[in-house]
Amino acid sequence: MNQNDFLYQNRRIETVVLGDWLGKARKLISILSEEPTSSINTIIGFALNKPAYFGISNPEFVLSTAEETMLDSLLSRLLSGEPLPYITGEQEFFGFDFKVTSDVLIPRPETEMLVEYALGWLQKRGGRNLVADVGTGSGCIAVSIGNNLPTAKIIGTDFSNNALQISRVNIKRHELDGQINLVQTDLLAGLQVQFDCICANLPYIPSDTLSELSVRKFEPISALDGGRDGLRHIKPLLYQSKTRVKPDGLILLEIEATQSHSVIDLAATVFPAASIRIHFDLSGLPRLIQVQMNGE
Ligand SMILES: C[S@@+](CC[C@H](N)C(=O)[O-])C[C@H]1O[C@@H](n2cnc3c(N)ncnc32)[C@H](O)[C@@H]1O
Repeated sequence: MNQNDFLYQNRRIETVVLGDWLGKARKLISILSEEPTSSINTIIGFALNKPAYFGISNPEFVLSTAEETMLDSLLSRLLSGEPLPYITGEQEFFGFDFKVTSDVLIPRPETEMLVEYALGWLQKRGGRNLVADVGTGSGCIAVSIGNNLPTAKIIGTDFSNNALQISRVNIKRHELDGQINLVQTDLLAGLQVQFDCICANLPYIPSDTLSELSVRKFEPISALDGGRDGLRHIKPLLYQSKTRVKPDGLILLEIEATQSHSVIDLAATVFPAASIRIHFDLSGLPRLIQVQMNGE
């Protein structure tokens, strides 16, 4: 065997085509993880900068060593349980793309309901509304409202500077710098204005429940932990809102299913003249509390 034969043979032994890698990845994921196999297509597209179906339609594509190493590393992150959006750095919400990192909660489809109610109410009201997005995180609520309602002015708050850096990127990405301002503060404490609409998806999972959930392994605890009764942030927000919501304004709060009665009682104590309603999600669970100030 001459040197060329040896090199050729070695190369053939080491060559990995995408179809083979895909087969291996599918087998591993079905044995070791509950992640859908479609996530593998996403990481192939992400690693090779190609559409997600590239792996399926190009099984003969020869992977370079660097590409194979990258795919293996992304696959092992997926197998460890890391959420796909943290691996690709992207998540879709309300039809818009958002940058996400482990400094922010991954936007959830349930939260789209809050945006829908806010938009419906704001559109009926017309005019130039001032909206608060308390605990803005990735900025998904503020950006979705801003993109759909160019006349609204929005202030997003968060006490996490790291989270605000991500919301800033998303606001820039959607060219909403002129419409959305960010403030680092505890809920609404640093703001002395009156809002038409206060939206909040604050951490609401009771600490005991959270300790049993796998979500805590990757997403920021400060975005999830609602304290002993889950109301650690919702309660002070309602009290702070007393002076920060207009007399005919609206508060929309995303809640955990078990909290509807306690949040309604609390809201009724703080705003005795308000009309309070629960909205249910697609699974039939209480998900959103609406507090309408003038009792309409
Ligand atoms: C459940 S995440 C929601 C993020 C985003 N609004 C969404 O719906 O995906 C809650 C956010 O509230 C922020 N947060 C928690 N406590 C806060 C407080 N006291 N004041 C301001 N922000 C707070 C967290 O840093 C986190 O970004």
